[in-house]
Amino acid sequence: MRGMHLSPDDPLLLRIVDDLASHGWSQQTLFLPEPLTLALAAECRKRAAEGELAPAAVGRGASQEVREGIRGDHIQWLEPGQAESCDQYLELMDSLRIALNRGLYLGLEDFECHFALYPAGAFYRRHLDRFRDDDRRTVSAVLYLNQDWQAGDGGQLRMSLKGDFEHDVEPAGGCLVVFLSGDIPHEVLPARRERLSLTGWFRRRGNDPF
Ligand code: OGA
Ligand code: MN
Repeated sequence: MRGMHLSPDDPLLLRIVDDLASHGWSQQTLFLPEPLTLALAAECRKRAAEGELAPAAVGRGASQEVREGIRGDHIQWLEPGQAESCDQYLELMDSLRIALNRGLYLGLEDFECHFALYPAGAFYRRHLDRFRDDDRRTVSAVLYLNQDWQAGDGGQLRMSLKGDFEHDVEPAGGCLVVFLSGDIPHEVLPARRERLSLTGWFRRRGNDPF
């Protein structure tokens, strides 16, 4: 597996751009080639086994705190140069960033993402992916890393859409969900088994002069 850059005109990326323009969200059931999904899942499990994942916090800056009644996942942020699989995923997301900028003029500058592991029973209550004091997060992208996810396993991403409409996504390996961070409230329902993902945000420049 090498060279995961896609052209900004790649049909896969254009579908996501079109979906976002018309609905504010997109679901691509087979976004990643299976070997890359498996490599990312193995990397996530390895980090978990080595104790590198930490309970996720809620909020930002000084008001940040761990609250398992709101979210119960364990996370670790990705940095470039740590693992080939991660670098390939970051390359793909950069191709998507360029496609989003071309198609929607969003001015997205970077992409930040973390592995997330939800132990059985963990959940994340309904929220928006935008901080009150920082509106740089513009587009959310969640990639699922779970092999053989069954309908009864729970753990769906539940999105609240316009017109009181709900859409559930099963967190099956290779599936990518992309949505406008400030527009779509969503939650993670409790799962019966461990649930792995890579969750990230495309950010635009802030108003902060520094
Ligand atoms: C999040 C989130 C959704 C998911 O981490 O902000 O909403 O399906 N994750 O993992
Ligand atoms: Mn979220």
